[in-house]
Amino acid sequence: MTSTTPLRQTAAWAALEAHQASLAGQHLRGLFAADPTRGTRLTAEAAGIYLDYSKNLVTDETMALLVALAEETGVEARRDAMFAGEAINNTEGRAVLHTALRMPRGYASLPTRVAGVSEIHGVLDKMAAFAERVRSGEWKGYTGKPIRNVVNLGIGGSDLGPAMAYEALRPYSRRDMVFRFVSNVDGSDFAEATRDLDPEETLFIVASKTFTTIETMTNANTARDWLLEKLCDKIAIAAHFVAVSTNAVEVARFGIDTDNMFGFWDWVGGRYSLTSAIGLSLMLAIGPDHFGELLDGFHAMDEHFRTAPIAENLPMLLGLLGLWYSNFHGAETQAVLPYDQYLNKLTAYLQQLDMESNGKSVDRDGRRLDYNTGPVVFGQPGTNGQHAFYQLIHQGTRLIPCDFIGCCQTQNPLNVHHDLLMANLFAQTRALAFGKTAEEVAGEEKDAELVPHRVFEGNRPTNTILVDRLTPQALGALIALYEHKVFTQGAVWGINSFDQWGVQLGKVLATELGEVFSGKAKAALDSSTEALVARYLSRKG
Ligand code: F6P
Repeated sequence: MTSTTPLRQTAAWAALEAHQASLAGQHLRGLFAADPTRGTRLTAEAAGIYLDYSKNLVTDETMALLVALAEETGVEARRDAMFAGEAINNTEGRAVLHTALRMPRGYASLPTRVAGVSEIHGVLDKMAAFAERVRSGEWKGYTGKPIRNVVNLGIGGSDLGPAMAYEALRPYSRRDMVFRFVSNVDGSDFAEATRDLDPEETLFIVASKTFTTIETMTNANTARDWLLEKLCDKIAIAAHFVAVSTNAVEVARFGIDTDNMFGFWDWVGGRYSLTSAIGLSLMLAIGPDHFGELLDGFHAMDEHFRTAPIAENLPMLLGLLGLWYSNFHGAETQAVLPYDQYLNKLTAYLQQLDMESNGKSVDRDGRRLDYNTGPVVFGQPGTNGQHAFYQLIHQGTRLIPCDFIGCCQTQNPLNVHHDLLMANLFAQTRALAFGKTAEEVAGEEKDAELVPHRVFEGNRPTNTILVDRLTPQALGALIALYEHKVFTQGAVWGINSFDQWGVQLGKVLATELGEVFSGKAKAALDSSTEALVARYLSRKG
């Protein structure tokens, strides 16, 4: 047991509560009018990422109090413990060392005393050699044809990271190869992903940390049947299946030669595993050099997070601002709105990162919390979201903090598209911050009854995050920014952001019901589930 002061009894928390009350009536219109330098002053930059947090409901005093909260709750000490390889994942007795995955070869602070850390670059080299063989056509399928299609079979962290990063880095990928990501246990996912593929030219990567996840193993078994249906020889499996896992025993049991297994370690959480061998499909797509640049971007942000003072530390600033709204303004959600089509899977990726990490209601010692933790993360790429859910952000009754993400340079300079895209991004943050008053509306609207409908209150907080161009490096820095934002919040809230017990019960009950479906077992079900199961079984055809 640790004997830390409960969060709501810290001096910083009390000061923030009093301060929040004293801000009533303040509006971003007034804050910007009073300080012409606000838009350049309340900014920070690191690892190629520019953060403008001036359009938040904060004053200099707010920021100082949030920094004090981070100090009083020991965020820096906890960060240092993570980097040092201490077992900060206390409920599983594990270190949390995804940051070691991107430390350069020979890096002085590599925590080599943790088992596995000294093997990181060996695995990266093995991945690179394999990727080169596949990309060059040297690695052949069973019938002697080169591999043209790569299908990653994984779910959660063994899917979302590679799938998101492949989308984001398509301009850097091999356009003459096909990359697909199958995650859902719904057979339609597998069927649609493989319907136009030739098994002779297809490589499956079975990506699973545990190699026991039911969805992934079901897809892997189906993939094996699909392959053998055409190739009719079990020996073919060796040329068409590789595994990424920590579980060599299960990999071998499945029939994959462990020489064709790429390992990682229990101190890499699933949702933090993109820079481990779980990134193999991505490396095949973009090549080892670009993959190395991605790692460099992650590392640059890691170093910033590890060394920058709290008040200049981008992930800490984002974390503290989010917490300001969750805990002192009653916000329940966090929108992430990337104005870049290539980032169209970013929000789904961040949902797992944030919500699986910080969806907790007890502290590290198991005590029930009396404050809110992780928000509901949602979003869509701009400008699509503008024509769907932004109405609620602008005029709804809830406060929804938003992160707007944009790139100064486009990968596809067509016509006026990019200027229009960015004009929309900046316009949205202006509209949200400053709104439109009843007087302003009345100047344009003759029908007085319509005035209240057309008023925008404004004072709705946003961060604007800009990168120059969506390179592998920039993507790495951006993801690490969010990883450490989540870390910062978890540290202040006093929770363990690195376990996910909350997904277990559903898994157990699904397995039990599967046995009921197949008649292998009976279960005492509630009346609702019993009726639903009966209806399903009688109609499934
Ligand atoms: O959803 C729970 C979870 O354990 C995630 O944390 C993980 O990313 C996912 O399942 C997949 O796990 P595995 O890589 O072991 O198949």
